[in-house]
Amino acid sequence: MNLRPRNLRKTDGLRRLVRQTALSPGDLVMPCFVRAGRGRRVPIPSMPGQYQLSPDLLVAEARRLRRSGVGALLLFGIPTRKDSRGREAWSRKGIVQQAVRAVKDAVPDLPVITDVCLCGYTDHGHCGILRGGEVDNDRTLPLLQKTALSHAAAGADLVAPSGMMDGAVGALRAVLPEVPILAYAAKYASAFYGPFREAAGSAPRFGDRSGYQMDPGNSDEALREIALDIQEGADIIMVKPALAYLDVLRRARERFEWPLAAYSVSGEYALLKAAGERGWIDERKAVLEILTSIKRAGADFILTYYAGKAAEWMT
Ligand code: PBG
Repeated sequence: MNLRPRNLRKTDGLRRLVRQTALSPGDLVMPCFVRAGRGRRVPIPSMPGQYQLSPDLLVAEARRLRRSGVGALLLFGIPTRKDSRGREAWSRKGIVQQAVRAVKDAVPDLPVITDVCLCGYTDHGHCGILRGGEVDNDRTLPLLQKTALSHAAAGADLVAPSGMMDGAVGALRAVLPEVPILAYAAKYASAFYGPFREAAGSAPRFGDRSGYQMDPGNSDEALREIALDIQEGADIIMVKPALAYLDVLRRARERFEWPLAAYSVSGEYALLKAAGERGWIDERKAVLEILTSIKRAGADFILTYYAGKAAEWMT
Protein backbone atom coordinates (compact mmCIF):
# COMPACT_ATOMS: atom_id res chain seq x y z
CA MET A 1 0.00 0.00 0.00
CA ASN A 2 1.23 3.46 -0.87
CA LEU A 3 -0.66 5.79 1.44
CA ARG A 4 -0.53 9.51 0.64
CA PRO A 5 -2.36 11.63 3.20
CA ARG A 6 -0.82 14.75 1.65
CA ASN A 7 -2.73 14.31 -1.60
CA LEU A 8 -5.76 16.20 -0.35
CA ARG A 9 -3.65 19.06 0.99
CA LYS A 10 -2.24 20.01 -2.41
CA THR A 11 -4.51 22.91 -3.27
CA ASP A 12 -6.79 25.26 -1.48
CA GLY A 13 -9.70 23.86 -3.49
CA LEU A 14 -9.03 20.30 -2.31
CA ARG A 15 -8.51 21.38 1.28
CA ARG A 16 -11.78 23.24 1.25
CA LEU A 17 -13.60 20.30 -0.29
CA VAL A 18 -12.72 17.92 2.55
CA ARG A 19 -12.74 20.42 5.43
CA GLN A 20 -14.97 19.11 8.24
CA THR A 21 -15.29 22.28 10.29
CA ALA A 22 -15.95 25.59 8.62
CA LEU A 23 -16.84 28.77 10.45
CA SER A 24 -19.43 31.21 9.26
CA PRO A 25 -20.53 34.59 10.65
CA GLY A 26 -23.89 33.11 11.65
CA ASP A 27 -22.08 30.87 14.17
CA LEU A 28 -20.93 33.89 16.16
CA VAL A 29 -22.66 35.93 18.84
CA MET A 30 -21.36 39.38 19.76
CA PRO A 31 -21.46 40.41 23.45
CA CYS A 32 -22.06 44.17 23.91
CA PHE A 33 -22.08 46.49 26.91
CA VAL A 34 -24.70 49.21 27.09
CA ARG A 35 -24.70 52.27 29.35
CA ALA A 36 -26.84 55.37 29.74
CA GLY A 37 -26.43 58.49 27.61
CA ARG A 38 -26.25 59.58 24.00
CA GLY A 39 -23.28 59.40 21.68
CA ARG A 40 -21.19 57.70 24.34
CA ARG A 41 -18.48 55.23 23.48
CA VAL A 42 -16.32 54.44 26.49
CA PRO A 43 -13.28 52.24 25.79
CA ILE A 44 -12.66 49.22 27.99
CA PRO A 45 -8.93 49.31 28.82
CA SER A 46 -8.41 45.57 29.32
CA MET A 47 -10.34 44.77 26.11
CA PRO A 48 -8.89 47.00 23.36
CA GLY A 49 -11.45 47.49 20.59
CA GLN A 50 -14.43 46.92 22.94
CA TYR A 51 -16.61 49.71 24.31
CA GLN A 52 -19.46 50.52 26.62
CA LEU A 53 -22.00 52.06 24.22
CA SER A 54 -25.02 54.26 24.80
CA PRO A 55 -28.23 52.88 23.24
CA ASP A 56 -28.03 55.03 20.08
CA LEU A 57 -24.51 53.80 19.29
CA LEU A 58 -25.51 50.27 20.22
CA VAL A 59 -28.21 50.45 17.57
CA ALA A 60 -25.59 51.53 15.02
CA GLU A 61 -23.42 48.59 16.09
CA ALA A 62 -26.40 46.22 15.79
CA ARG A 63 -26.98 47.40 12.23
CA ARG A 64 -23.34 46.70 11.41
CA LEU A 65 -23.49 43.24 12.99
CA ARG A 66 -26.66 42.43 11.10
CA ARG A 67 -25.01 43.44 7.82
CA SER A 68 -21.97 41.27 8.47
CA GLY A 69 -24.19 38.25 9.15
CA VAL A 70 -23.38 37.80 12.86
CA GLY A 71 -25.81 35.34 14.48
CA ALA A 72 -26.99 37.37 17.46
CA LEU A 73 -26.17 40.08 19.96
CA LEU A 74 -25.74 39.39 23.69
CA LEU A 75 -26.46 42.35 25.91
CA PHE A 76 -24.93 43.36 29.26
CA GLY A 77 -26.09 46.50 31.04
CA ILE A 78 -24.10 49.03 33.07
CA PRO A 79 -26.66 50.46 35.51
CA THR A 80 -26.55 54.01 36.80
CA ARG A 81 -27.28 52.88 40.35
CA LYS A 82 -26.43 49.77 42.33
CA ASP A 83 -27.98 48.50 45.56
CA SER A 84 -28.01 45.38 47.69
CA ARG A 85 -30.76 43.68 45.65
CA GLY A 86 -29.79 44.87 42.17
CA ARG A 87 -33.10 46.66 41.54
CA GLU A 88 -32.18 48.18 38.20
CA ALA A 89 -31.85 44.66 36.78
CA TRP A 90 -35.64 44.30 36.51
CA SER A 91 -36.73 47.90 36.10
CA ARG A 92 -38.89 48.53 33.05
CA LYS A 93 -36.80 51.62 32.43
CA GLY A 94 -33.49 49.86 33.10
CA ILE A 95 -30.68 50.31 30.63
CA VAL A 96 -30.94 46.80 29.18
CA GLN A 97 -34.71 47.06 28.77
CA GLN A 98 -34.34 50.39 26.94
CA ALA A 99 -31.57 49.03 24.77
CA VAL A 100 -33.49 45.88 23.82
CA ARG A 101 -36.46 47.99 22.74
CA ALA A 102 -34.22 50.27 20.68
CA VAL A 103 -32.35 47.43 18.97
CA LYS A 104 -35.47 45.38 18.24
CA ASP A 105 -37.12 48.47 16.84
CA ALA A 106 -34.26 49.27 14.47
CA VAL A 107 -32.98 45.78 13.57
CA PRO A 108 -35.89 43.42 14.23
CA ASP A 109 -34.34 40.37 12.59
CA LEU A 110 -31.12 40.35 14.64
CA PRO A 111 -31.73 38.01 17.62
CA VAL A 112 -31.08 39.70 20.97
CA ILE A 113 -29.97 37.65 23.96
CA THR A 114 -30.02 39.21 27.43
CA ASP A 115 -27.84 38.30 30.37
CA VAL A 116 -29.97 37.47 33.39
CA CYS A 117 -27.78 38.00 36.44
CA LEU A 118 -27.50 40.45 39.31
CA CYS A 119 -23.72 40.88 39.66
CA GLY A 120 -23.56 44.04 37.56
CA TYR A 121 -26.43 45.56 39.56
CA THR A 122 -25.64 44.70 43.18
CA ASP A 123 -23.43 46.98 45.27
CA HIS A 124 -21.58 43.91 46.63
CA GLY A 125 -20.97 42.48 43.15
CA HIS A 126 -22.27 38.95 43.78
CA CYS A 127 -24.64 37.16 41.43
CA GLY A 128 -27.44 36.90 43.98
CA ILE A 129 -28.72 38.60 47.10
CA LEU A 130 -26.86 38.02 50.33
CA ARG A 131 -27.86 36.60 53.67
CA GLY A 132 -25.25 36.33 56.39
CA GLY A 133 -22.47 37.04 53.88
CA GLU A 134 -23.57 34.15 51.63
CA VAL A 135 -25.45 34.23 48.35
CA ASP A 136 -28.99 33.10 49.12
CA ASN A 137 -29.88 30.84 46.21
CA ASP A 138 -33.62 30.51 46.70
CA ARG A 139 -34.31 34.14 47.48
CA THR A 140 -32.39 35.11 44.37
CA LEU A 141 -34.62 33.08 42.03
CA PRO A 142 -37.68 35.38 42.17
CA LEU A 143 -35.43 38.34 41.31
CA LEU A 144 -34.08 36.47 38.31
CA GLN A 145 -37.66 35.74 37.27
CA LYS A 146 -38.56 39.43 37.46
CA THR A 147 -35.44 40.33 35.50
CA ALA A 148 -36.11 37.81 32.73
CA LEU A 149 -39.77 38.85 32.54
CA SER A 150 -38.77 42.48 32.07
CA HIS A 151 -36.29 41.52 29.33
CA ALA A 152 -38.91 39.44 27.53
CA ALA A 153 -41.43 42.27 27.81
CA ALA A 154 -38.89 44.58 26.17
CA GLY A 155 -38.56 42.12 23.27
CA ALA A 156 -35.57 39.90 24.08
CA ASP A 157 -35.45 36.83 21.83
CA LEU A 158 -33.53 34.69 24.32
CA VAL A 159 -32.78 35.00 28.02
CA ALA A 160 -29.51 33.72 29.45
CA PRO A 161 -29.24 33.10 33.20
CA SER A 162 -25.50 33.29 33.94
CA GLY A 163 -25.31 33.31 37.73
CA MET A 164 -25.04 29.56 38.42
CA MET A 165 -27.93 29.60 40.89
CA ASP A 166 -29.45 26.13 41.31
CA GLY A 167 -32.91 25.97 39.77
CA ALA A 168 -32.58 29.20 37.79
CA VAL A 169 -33.50 27.62 34.46
CA GLY A 170 -36.61 25.99 35.96
CA ALA A 171 -37.60 29.24 37.64
CA LEU A 172 -37.39 31.13 34.33
CA ARG A 173 -39.14 28.36 32.42
CA ALA A 174 -42.03 28.51 34.90
CA VAL A 175 -42.73 32.18 34.22
CA LEU A 176 -41.66 32.30 30.56
CA PRO A 177 -42.86 29.08 28.92
CA GLU A 178 -42.40 30.40 25.40
CA VAL A 179 -39.15 32.35 25.59
CA PRO A 180 -36.01 30.39 24.60
CA ILE A 181 -33.52 29.96 27.44
CA LEU A 182 -29.78 29.86 26.85
CA ALA A 183 -28.45 28.19 30.00
CA TYR A 184 -24.96 28.93 31.26
CA ALA A 185 -25.06 25.28 32.26
CA ALA A 186 -21.40 24.61 32.96
CA LYS A 187 -19.81 27.86 34.03
CA TYR A 188 -16.46 27.62 35.76
CA ALA A 189 -14.97 29.89 38.42
CA SER A 190 -12.39 31.30 36.04
CA ALA A 191 -9.60 33.85 36.07
CA PHE A 192 -10.50 34.54 32.45
CA TYR A 193 -13.48 36.72 33.48
CA GLY A 194 -11.14 39.45 34.75
CA PRO A 195 -11.49 41.94 31.86
CA PHE A 196 -15.27 41.47 31.76
CA ARG A 197 -15.55 42.45 35.41
CA GLU A 198 -13.70 45.65 34.60
CA ALA A 199 -15.97 46.22 31.59
CA ALA A 200 -19.17 45.59 33.55
CA GLY A 201 -17.97 46.88 36.92
CA SER A 202 -19.14 43.56 38.35
CA ALA A 203 -16.22 42.26 40.40
CA PRO A 204 -17.30 40.96 43.83
CA ARG A 205 -16.39 43.47 46.57
CA PHE A 206 -15.46 40.61 48.90
CA GLY A 207 -14.72 36.93 48.43
CA ASP A 208 -15.06 35.28 45.04
CA ARG A 209 -17.55 33.23 43.04
CA SER A 210 -16.19 29.76 43.77
CA GLY A 211 -19.18 29.08 46.04
CA TYR A 212 -21.44 29.01 43.01
CA GLN A 213 -19.35 28.71 39.85
CA MET A 214 -17.72 25.36 39.09
CA ASP A 215 -14.30 24.13 40.11
CA PRO A 216 -11.92 24.01 37.10
CA GLY A 217 -10.80 20.49 38.00
CA ASN A 218 -14.19 18.89 37.33
CA SER A 219 -15.85 17.68 34.18
CA ASP A 220 -18.30 14.96 35.38
CA GLU A 221 -19.91 17.74 37.38
CA ALA A 222 -20.33 19.76 34.18
CA LEU A 223 -22.32 16.91 32.67
CA ARG A 224 -24.55 16.78 35.77
CA GLU A 225 -25.10 20.54 35.62
CA ILE A 226 -26.00 20.31 31.95
CA ALA A 227 -28.38 17.38 32.52
CA LEU A 228 -30.17 19.38 35.23
CA ASP A 229 -30.56 22.43 33.01
CA ILE A 230 -31.99 20.29 30.23
CA GLN A 231 -34.46 18.74 32.70
CA GLU A 232 -35.42 22.22 33.88
CA GLY A 233 -36.21 23.28 30.33
CA ALA A 234 -33.09 24.82 28.80
CA ASP A 235 -33.37 25.27 25.04
CA ILE A 236 -29.62 25.70 24.59
CA ILE A 237 -26.81 24.61 26.90
CA MET A 238 -23.47 26.33 27.21
CA VAL A 239 -19.93 25.70 28.40
CA LYS A 240 -17.90 28.69 29.63
CA PRO A 241 -15.04 29.60 29.23
CA ALA A 242 -14.26 27.89 25.92
CA LEU A 243 -10.57 27.53 25.19
CA ALA A 244 -9.47 26.03 28.50
CA TYR A 245 -12.54 23.74 28.52
CA LEU A 246 -12.61 22.18 25.05
CA ASP A 247 -12.62 18.72 26.63
CA VAL A 248 -15.80 19.59 28.53
CA LEU A 249 -17.35 20.87 25.33
CA ARG A 250 -16.49 17.64 23.54
CA ARG A 251 -17.97 15.52 26.35
CA ALA A 252 -21.14 17.63 26.30
CA ARG A 253 -21.39 17.21 22.51
CA GLU A 254 -21.08 13.45 22.81
CA ARG A 255 -23.46 13.08 25.73
CA PHE A 256 -26.31 15.43 24.85
CA GLU A 257 -28.15 15.85 21.59
CA TRP A 258 -28.99 19.41 22.41
CA PRO A 259 -28.06 22.79 20.94
CA LEU A 260 -24.66 23.59 22.43
CA ALA A 261 -22.92 26.96 22.76
CA ALA A 262 -19.48 27.97 24.03
CA TYR A 263 -18.48 31.33 25.48
CA SER A 264 -15.01 32.49 24.53
CA VAL A 265 -14.70 34.94 27.40
CA SER A 266 -13.08 38.31 27.96
CA GLY A 267 -9.74 36.89 29.15
CA GLU A 268 -9.44 34.82 25.99
CA TYR A 269 -10.02 37.98 23.96
CA ALA A 270 -7.44 39.87 26.04
CA LEU A 271 -4.75 37.21 25.50
CA LEU A 272 -5.16 37.26 21.74
CA LYS A 273 -5.40 41.03 21.60
CA ALA A 274 -2.29 41.58 23.70
CA ALA A 275 -0.13 39.16 21.72
CA GLY A 276 -1.56 40.46 18.43
CA GLU A 277 -0.85 44.09 19.32
CA ARG A 278 2.76 43.24 20.07
CA GLY A 279 3.10 41.46 16.76
CA TRP A 280 3.87 38.20 18.58
CA ILE A 281 1.13 36.30 16.79
CA ASP A 282 -0.90 36.89 13.65
CA GLU A 283 -4.11 37.97 15.36
CA ARG A 284 -6.44 37.21 12.50
CA LYS A 285 -5.12 33.70 11.89
CA ALA A 286 -4.92 32.88 15.59
CA VAL A 287 -8.48 34.03 16.24
CA LEU A 288 -9.94 32.07 13.33
CA GLU A 289 -7.95 29.00 14.35
CA ILE A 290 -9.20 29.15 17.93
CA LEU A 291 -12.80 29.74 16.87
CA THR A 292 -12.49 26.75 14.53
CA SER A 293 -11.16 24.64 17.42
CA ILE A 294 -14.16 25.56 19.56
CA LYS A 295 -16.56 24.58 16.82
CA ARG A 296 -14.59 21.41 16.09
CA ALA A 297 -14.79 20.47 19.76
CA GLY A 298 -18.56 20.52 19.45
CA ALA A 299 -20.05 23.99 19.75
CA ASP A 300 -22.94 24.85 17.44
CA PHE A 301 -22.21 28.51 18.00
CA ILE A 302 -19.74 30.70 19.86
CA LEU A 303 -20.11 33.83 21.94
CA THR A 304 -17.00 35.90 21.27
CA TYR A 305 -15.89 39.52 21.43
CA TYR A 306 -14.29 38.87 18.04
CA ALA A 307 -17.69 38.14 16.44
CA GLY A 308 -17.88 41.43 14.52
CA LYS A 309 -14.23 41.36 13.45
CA ALA A 310 -14.19 37.66 12.59
CA ALA A 311 -17.33 38.04 10.47
CA GLU A 312 -15.54 40.79 8.50
CA TRP A 313 -12.43 38.64 8.14
CA MET A 314 -14.50 35.78 6.78
CA THR A 315 -16.10 37.77 3.98
C1 PBG B 1 -22.04 37.45 35.09
C2 PBG B 1 -21.23 37.14 33.92
C3 PBG B 1 -19.82 37.02 33.84
C4 PBG B 1 -19.52 36.81 32.50
C5 PBG B 1 -20.72 36.78 31.81
N1 PBG B 1 -21.77 36.96 32.72
C6 PBG B 1 -18.74 37.24 34.79
C7 PBG B 1 -18.63 36.59 36.07
O1 PBG B 1 -19.16 35.50 36.31
O2 PBG B 1 -17.98 37.24 36.87
C8 PBG B 1 -18.13 36.68 31.96
C9 PBG B 1 -17.96 37.01 30.56
C10 PBG B 1 -16.59 37.24 30.12
O3 PBG B 1 -15.59 37.17 30.88
O4 PBG B 1 -16.45 37.54 28.93
N2 PBG B 1 -22.47 36.44 35.89
